[in-house]
Amino acid sequence: MRTIAITGANRGIGLMFAQHYAEAGARVIACCRRPETFPPPLLGSSNIVVRALDVADAASCERFAQDCAEETIDTLILNAGANKTPAGLGQFTDDEWRYLFELHTIGPLRLVRLLLPALLRSAAPRVIGMTSRLASIAELSAENRGFRLRGASYPYRTTKCSANLMLRLLALEMAGSNLVTLSIDPGWVRTEMGGAEAPIAAAESVAKMSRLIDRVSAAESGQFVDLEGNTIPW
Ligand SMILES: NC(=O)c1ccc[n+]([C@@H]2O[C@H](COP(=O)([O-])OP(=O)(O)OC[C@H]3O[C@@H](n4cnc5c(N)ncnc54)[C@H](OP(=O)(O)O)[C@@H]3O)[C@@H](O)[C@H]2O)c1
Repeated sequence: MRTIAITGANRGIGLMFAQHYAEAGARVIACCRRPETFPPPLLGSSNIVVRALDVADAASCERFAQDCAEETIDTLILNAGANKTPAGLGQFTDDEWRYLFELHTIGPLRLVRLLLPALLRSAAPRVIGMTSRLASIAELSAENRGFRLRGASYPYRTTKCSANLMLRLLALEMAGSNLVTLSIDPGWVRTEMGGAEAPIAAAESVAKMSRLIDRVSAAESGQFVDLEGNTIPW
């Protein structure tokens, strides 16, 4: 039985991943910073265990890793995230920006480091980042739809961009092992973050991403892709 650990699993895309993998027969470690917010109906699933994890809090990451000391984790989905739009100049504080670095880049790499023994016990470990094509520098232009809709969004874009680089570097550093990383843009998805106008349902996005996650090979490790598997230029 595969074990899938998902951060930010109490709502949105993370919750849909938890539901999807539990229904597919995997064992799911649903990580939530407030476990009591995990939807009670899903607690009935014998395939789901809910554990406390605040990705932005080092002590919480360490406690979580201790709880996982005996685990084998096949797939770690770094899903927890936050956004504040449009976040142009003067619309965010230094502390809010620092916090997103902690949530999107520093915390996730710390988690990987702490969970490395559990990941390397798997025959095919995968570390998957939920990222955004808003972090693509190559696609940025004043005419770009993402820029027009979201504005500069300095904290979100820079911290997701550094998260992409972090997973690319991890892929290179771990190339001698069987650990594979992938940064996936889930599309514009109807969640609290994506909003009601978003065209893609969380179930559709997760169904497509899970197919990608299942088939990703070592040759593709470290790539930045959309939910169809197309490469997004850095
Ligand atoms: N929706 C989209 O259109 C879209 C597009 C591109 C990328 N993404 C990315 O996809 C991921 C999921 O997005 P979503 O749309 O599902 O967002 P969402 O509905 O706002 O859910 C965000 C999740 O992250 C959790 N979280 C936030 N801070 C956390 C922390 N410090 N520790 C642990 N968990 C934390 C939240 O938990 P709480 O309930 O405790 O706050 C929640 O479970 C994010 O990384 C986002 O950047 C989303």
